[in-house]
Amino acid sequence: MTTTVRWHAVADLADLARQANTQILAIAEEAIAERGHFSIVLAGGDTPRPIYRRLRGAFTDWKRWDIYFGDERCLPADDSGRNSHMASSEWLDHVALAPSRIHRIAAEQGAQAAAAAYAQTLSSVGAFDMVLLGLGEDGHTASLFPGHDLGLGPDAPDVLAVHDAPKPPPERISLSAARLGRARRVLFLVAGSSKRQAVADWRAGVPIPASTIASSGGVDVLVEASLL
Ligand code: 6PG
Repeated sequence: MTTTVRWHAVADLADLARQANTQILAIAEEAIAERGHFSIVLAGGDTPRPIYRRLRGAFTDWKRWDIYFGDERCLPADDSGRNSHMASSEWLDHVALAPSRIHRIAAEQGAQAAAAAYAQTLSSVGAFDMVLLGLGEDGHTASLFPGHDLGLGPDAPDVLAVHDAPKPPPERISLSAARLGRARRVLFLVAGSSKRQAVADWRAGVPIPASTIASSGGVDVLVEASLL
C-alpha cells in the first residue's frame, strides 16, 4: 500500500519539539474525548528527547494514556542505552502515568523471547492512536533496516526479532512495518544533517524502510527545513 506523505518544515530541533508536542497533545485529547483513552508508540534514538522533556509539563489526563515502544535495544533493563530508559528519564518518570500502562519491551530477555512476549501484549491492542518514528541515516526507522526483513505483508508478524542491526546494538526488537502502519496518525521526527540523504531518497521515491510505513490516513514528517 502506498501512502500519502505530508512534509512539514520546521526551523530547528526546538521548533520540531514544539510542533510535535502540540500535535501529540491535540491527538491525545481527541482520542480521549472520542474513545476514552490514547495509545501512543514512542520513537527511540535522540531526536525525541526534547519532545519527551516538554511532555513533562503537559496538562492532560495521564490516566488515559497507554505507552508502547516502536523498538528496543537488547541491553540490560536499566541500561541508559535503552529507548525505554531515555523516555522514562526525560518524561515518563516525571508524570502520573500508571506503570501498568507503560508497556515496555522486555529486551533484556533477548530478541526472540522479547519479540514473542511483545506480540502477545499487542494481540489485544487494535490500531494505535499515534505512532512516533525517527529516521536513520540509512533510511531505517524503528529497528527496520535496509536489506532486512521489514515485516511488510498483510501476514507479517506484529513484532520482529532483529539479530544483526547495523546500528548498535545488533540485537533488537522492532514492531513490523505492517504493525507500525496500523495507526490513526503516524508522525516522523527528522532532524540533523546526517539525515539529508535519507530525506532526499525518500522524497525521490527511492525505497527505504521509512517509506514502507503506510497508514490509511497518510504519514506526517516534521523535518528540519535545511534538509528539504
Ligand atoms: C533506535 C531508534 C532508531 C532511531 C533512528 C534515529 O533504537 O536507535 O529506534 O530508529 O529513531 O536511528 O535516531 P536519532 O533520533 O538519534 O537520529
